[in-house]
Amino acid sequence: MSDHLLDRATRRRNHKIARLLGVPLADVTRAVVLAIGGIKGGIGKSTTAIYLAHVWAGQGLKVLVICADPGSGTSRKWNKRARELGHALPFTVKAHPSEDLEDRILEEEWHLEYDLIIVDTGGDDDRILRAAYRIADYMLLTASPSPVDLDTLADSARTAIGQGNEARTIPASILLTGVKSPRMAEDAKAQMREAGIPVLSNVITHRTAYQNAYIEGVGRAGLLDYPAVQHELDNP
Ligand SMILES: Nc1ncnc2c1ncn2[C@@H]1O[C@H](COP(=O)(O)OP(=O)(O)OP(=O)(O)O)[C@@H](O)[C@H]1O
Ligand SMILES: [Mg+2]
Repeated sequence: MSDHLLDRATRRRNHKIARLLGVPLADVTRAVVLAIGGIKGGIGKSTTAIYLAHVWAGQGLKVLVICADPGSGTSRKWNKRARELGHALPFTVKAHPSEDLEDRILEEEWHLEYDLIIVDTGGDDDRILRAAYRIADYMLLTASPSPVDLDTLADSARTAIGQGNEARTIPASILLTGVKSPRMAEDAKAQMREAGIPVLSNVITHRTAYQNAYIEGVGRAGLLDYPAVQHELDNP
């Protein structure tokens, strides 16, 4: 679509999307799709999906979280819990735990309706992760920098990132979550960088606040570590 065909609102929206995750403006005719996956030892895929959706929604983006995890359906639970607390989440959550993710996103025209689609994939089902890869513009992989996993973290990360290579390569990064010791996180980052695996500088610390947020709502505890992660994703 050439730029002059866009009305001003769409152009404003597309500038925002283009800035987000560094997608060239000319390519923006649909929502940016961010897929969240995990690698061994990873926790916090769903927590990350929900928190990042809060951060971007707070910046005025129209966000859809697709709960594509056939196992736990955690994003959906967050949505239900928010309603029980008497407030809706500032974004939409839809469940679609199936491999035909791409068809669904395109057929339902969700890609036109939203600025950003965050796909919360299940850790166990590779088919869902691969399906998310096919439609995603960016892959964020959560991992816990636990010492017992450290020697295999780079290999696991490479395997997870490699999932996308069958069709096309998209930018991907590791986000360290559940970080209990900054030193451990620094060791993990150093090891991954040495192995050529992209890893975000900002990490998610281990806090009970993230667990409480499910009970009390994200609003009470605040967005904690996630705005910094969003900022790093927006400004690579
Ligand atoms: N940074 C954190 N600090 C402490 N607890 C956390 C953190 N992130 C997530 N948790 C907790 O860890 C558990 C798993 O988190 P979450 O559901 O986000 O992981 P997941 O990777 O989506 O898991 P699944 O593979 O089951 O989908 C939850 O109880 C959550 O509250
Ligand atoms: Mg989950």
